Amino acid sequence: MLYSFNWRRSESRNMARGNVEQDRSEAALEVRQVELGSPEYRATVELRNQILRVPLGLELTPADLASDPSSYHLACFCKGDIVGCLLLFPRSDTEVAMRGVAVASNSQGQGVGRAMVEYSEQFALRHGFSLMTLDAREMAVPFYERLGYVKYGERFEKVTVPHWKMSKRLSSEHGA
Ligand SMILES: CC(C)(COP(=O)(O)OP(=O)(O)OC[C@H]1O[C@@H](n2cnc3c(N)ncnc32)[C@H](O)[C@@H]1OP(=O)(O)O)[C@@H](O)C(=O)NCCC(=O)NCCS
Repeated sequence: MLYSFNWRRSESRNMARGNVEQDRSEAALEVRQVELGSPEYRATVELRNQILRVPLGLELTPADLASDPSSYHLACFCKGDIVGCLLLFPRSDTEVAMRGVAVASNSQGQGVGRAMVEYSEQFALRHGFSLMTLDAREMAVPFYERLGYVKYGERFEKVTVPHWKMSKRLSSEHGA
C-alpha cells in the first residue's frame, strides 16, 4: 500500500450544506491499493465480474485479466467490506488508463465511485502521470463528466454496450 485515505460519504456535499452533524453518522470509506494475488485483489476480480459482466450475460475472461499484473489495483472499503474497485493501467510515462470501475449494487449512488476516482487521480499524480484516460460505458458518461472528464472520438461498442473514450488532464493545482 503506497498511501491511503479515509473519506466520509457525502462529506463535501454535507459540509457545503453546513450539515456536518449528519455526516458523523455515516460510514467511513477507505480507498487503498490492494496487492495483485491477495485475497482483497481476488474480491475485486469477483466484484468486477458481478457488476461489469454478469448483468450482460458474460464472465470475465483470461483476456480481460491480461493487464492485471501490470496495473495498480485500488479498492474502496466500508466497515471492512469491499464496496468498489478499479484498476489503473500505465499506457506511457504520462498516461494512465482507468479500467474496471465497479461499485457494488447496494452501494451505488452513495459517493463510492466519486471517492475512488478522486483517490485515483491523486494516486496517478503521485506516480508521475498527468493524463487519465478511460473507455466509459455510455450510461456512466454523466458520472465521469461530473468529475471533469471529457468525451472524445466516436461512440464504439465494447462488451456488447456502447462506449465513449474520455480523458482528464490531471493537475495538483486544481485538486486533481
Ligand atoms: C457508474 C458508477 C461507477 C458510479 O459510481 P457511484 O458510486 O454509483 O457514483 P457516486 O455516488 O460516487 O456519484 C458521483 C456523482 O455522479 C452522479 N452519478 C453517478 N452515476 C450517474 C449516472 N449514471 N448518471 C448521472 N449521474 C450519475 C451522482 O449523482 C453523483 O453526483 P453528485 O456527487 O454531484 O451528487 C457505479 O454506479 C457503477 O459501478 N455502475 C455499474 C458499473 C458501471 O457502469 N461502471 C462504469 C463502467 S465505465
